[in-house]
Amino acid sequence: MRTPVTLVTGASGEIGHGLITRLAGTGRPIVTIDLAPLDPSLHRLVLREFTGSITDSTLLERVLAEFEVDLIFHLAALLSTRAEFTPITAHHVNVDGTLTLLEFAQREGESHGRTVLFLYPSSVAAYGLPDLQTKARVGRIREDEWNTPRTMYGCNKLYCEHLGRYYARFYKQLAAHATGRVDFRSVRFPGLISAVTMPAGGTSDYAPEMIHAAARGEPYTCFVRPDTRIPFMAMPDAISALLDLAKAPRENLTRTAYNLTAFSPTAQEIHDAVVAAFPGGVVQWTTDEKRQSIVDSWPQDVDDGAARRDWGFAPVYDFSSAFEKYLIPNVRERYR
Ligand code: SER
Repeated sequence: MRTPVTLVTGASGEIGHGLITRLAGTGRPIVTIDLAPLDPSLHRLVLREFTGSITDSTLLERVLAEFEVDLIFHLAALLSTRAEFTPITAHHVNVDGTLTLLEFAQREGESHGRTVLFLYPSSVAAYGLPDLQTKARVGRIREDEWNTPRTMYGCNKLYCEHLGRYYARFYKQLAAHATGRVDFRSVRFPGLISAVTMPAGGTSDYAPEMIHAAARGEPYTCFVRPDTRIPFMAMPDAISALLDLAKAPRENLTRTAYNLTAFSPTAQEIHDAVVAAFPGGVVQWTTDEKRQSIVDSWPQDVDDGAARRDWGFAPVYDFSSAFEKYLIPNVRERYR
């Protein structure tokens, strides 16, 4: 009898870092996959670490042969800015990788005669607004509005939400004896800000970069205009959301993909909070037009009412408490 385990892909990334720490507290064995080796502090917390790509089916065969995976957090992805430099690679990792994992989950479920829970972080990048006037006019938007992403990453995330819905609801509907074994659930994360790790290759990175640079006493050149406004959330709330959605009774869920948000500051407001906490912080503003056009196409706010109703999403941190109680003390500690 193999032990049931939780599989985390992209485990070395920002979300993986926080998630593994929280999952380890539950006592359930964790198996990870990432191209990069895990930080030693995380390595200690996992049963088995596989170093390699989620697109490598031989690697997944090994996981399938050794473990009974009944819960998957599929975090591995190339983020929005990086994906624009290598769109074909991004598609391969973000889409083919997710399809491979969904099929892996289906086969795990078949071989153990049970459903595999599949948690997937989608993104605010799944939206695409045509211009700033429209962005200002529409304000807070719901999941099914403006699903016309401008980036490769956004297209990948939106499509994979649909692939997940297919595996969960309509898998091989024309084939006799086929049963869907994947319980797919996803959240559209806003920009995430962690006090302990730095993002790589995203377009919402200006917020965490500004905070961490100021705490290190280094100047920062912000690549978006001061009036740029998109939704954000503190990392501990993002981790809690994934864990809460995983625990929610299936019958309560009315959607495959849920909007989440906690606060929607402008880059100027982030700057002001950073400078108030770290008075030496120096920020220059030099707009990168391409990265600006990406965040301009993302909504300034999202309606997360469905997540609140269906599974009780309720972030702990708003803008002030995220800074006062989470970011400032922990970032200060980190660079002390
Ligand atoms: N934070 C991500 C990015 O900027 C969006 O999911 O790419």
